[in-house]
Amino acid sequence: MQQKRLAAGLLAAFAAFTNAEGESDVASLTKDTFADFIKANDLVLAEFFAPWCGHCKALAPEYEEAATSLKEKDIRLAKVDCTEEADLCKEYGVEGYPTLKVFRGLDNIAPYTGQRKAPAITSYMVKQSLPAVSVLDKDTLGDFKTADKVVLVAYISADDKASNETYTKVAEELRDSYLFGGVNDPAVAEAEGVKAPAIVLYKTFDEGKNIFTDKFDEDAIRSFANKAATPLIGEIGPDTYAGYMTAGIPLAYIFAETPEERTELGNAVRPIAEKYKGKINFATIDAKAYGAHAGNLNLKTDKFPCFAFQDIEKNQKFPFDQDSEITHDAIAKFAEDFMAGKIEPSIKSEPVPETQEGPVTVVVAKNYDQIVMDDTKDVLIEFYAPWCGHCKALAPKYDDLASQYAASEHKDKVVIAKVDATANDVPDDISGFPTIKLYPAGAKDSPVTYKGSRTVEDLISFIEEHGKHSAGISPQEEAEAAPAASEEAKKEDHDEL
Ligand SMILES: *[C@@H]1O[C@H](CO)[C@@H](O)[C@H](O)[C@H]1NC(C)=O
Repeated sequence: MQQKRLAAGLLAAFAAFTNAEGESDVASLTKDTFADFIKANDLVLAEFFAPWCGHCKALAPEYEEAATSLKEKDIRLAKVDCTEEADLCKEYGVEGYPTLKVFRGLDNIAPYTGQRKAPAITSYMVKQSLPAVSVLDKDTLGDFKTADKVVLVAYISADDKASNETYTKVAEELRDSYLFGGVNDPAVAEAEGVKAPAIVLYKTFDEGKNIFTDKFDEDAIRSFANKAATPLIGEIGPDTYAGYMTAGIPLAYIFAETPEERTELGNAVRPIAEKYKGKINFATIDAKAYGAHAGNLNLKTDKFPCFAFQDIEKNQKFPFDQDSEITHDAIAKFAEDFMAGKIEPSIKSEPVPETQEGPVTVVVAKNYDQIVMDDTKDVLIEFYAPWCGHCKALAPKYDDLASQYAASEHKDKVVIAKVDATANDVPDDISGFPTIKLYPAGAKDSPVTYKGSRTVEDLISFIEEHGKHSAGISPQEEAEAAPAASEEAKKEDHDEL
């Protein structure tokens, strides 16, 4: 009995061992094997990771699962431990962990922009493995039209090389977002009610399809696709947010806590969305999951449903009065006034400091223009958040930098400033903390974002190089070097918003 149990235990242990060591479908690569592996496989997703990185650990089981399901399709997943293979990771420009890149040979490398879940990785890579444009005929068109939420099909004459080329370029660029097909049979085009060259976008929502008949031009096709693929009343979430932020038109948010309420409010404002189609995007957002985002729009985060417009280009917010009911008529009036420019944007700002106490100039929303946009000065500004650890680590060095400039011959030409970007609305698009930008004198419309290491010396060189006044100073002895930053602090050096 005892004996038997022991044997079973050993067997189980042995099975676990081969599972972990022998059966992983993810290839572990080193500098000696990497190039050969990429050359031997047409399509590879490579993960550059560090063993201590939390996001990497969370990804690991998902990555294994995706590797197994993709193996039979001849799509290989690989990983590189950057703590062991520092040079290899540097060669591929790895700056944070995990970094995922799609390799088609060693010269064709693209960032992986999908989500980090097994099904998402699988479907992303399968899409990558198909040609950007699938050539269709009367038999295959039907299934293709409904193969995804948004599908584009171009109807092109077989001899129209120019249209074909233009369309293929756009398809290669947007292949991660939509499916692209092409037909060169005039009879099929006719059956679909179009004449070549034309593009039909088929979708599972709203009017079901849209037709493009203008001249084939990359910009025109891209903007047609993006506009037509956006639902009249969409839903804001991780998959759609970036699309709304790059749509180039304002966004109307409908925050509500239940799906029923979102549908009901969506229906109430539908005619308004229809009226402003192409001018304003309307979307609902789950207030239970993303209620905190209401705060970014200067809405209270404890009173739902609520509504706001955001002018994305100018980063301005227009919250709708949270004590008023969201009705068709109220929003119709609000939208009309918004479009007419009759509503003042809501600006969150700390009070303007009465005096500037420290070496670093404190900027708030209300004095931002006056200080940062002062056309005679090179202004270096740090966007920080009070909770951000990397900002705290930077603070003494940043103070030191400001003190050195204040004591230098450039004190009237260079301003070292900071703004708490969680408490002040700033026009800048900030994606992580700290963000440091230089607004050069005479070129306030082209700020330069700092990407170097956060040392006084490098910041001075940056100001000297990119500022109008070329205001370099020789850095004073820096205080004793801080103990070597942990690997983690060095790499994950942005706190995400
Ligand atoms: C576009 O050109 C490619 C390459 O010549 C060809 O295979 C494909 O059939 C063309 N697509 C259409 C829709 O005509």
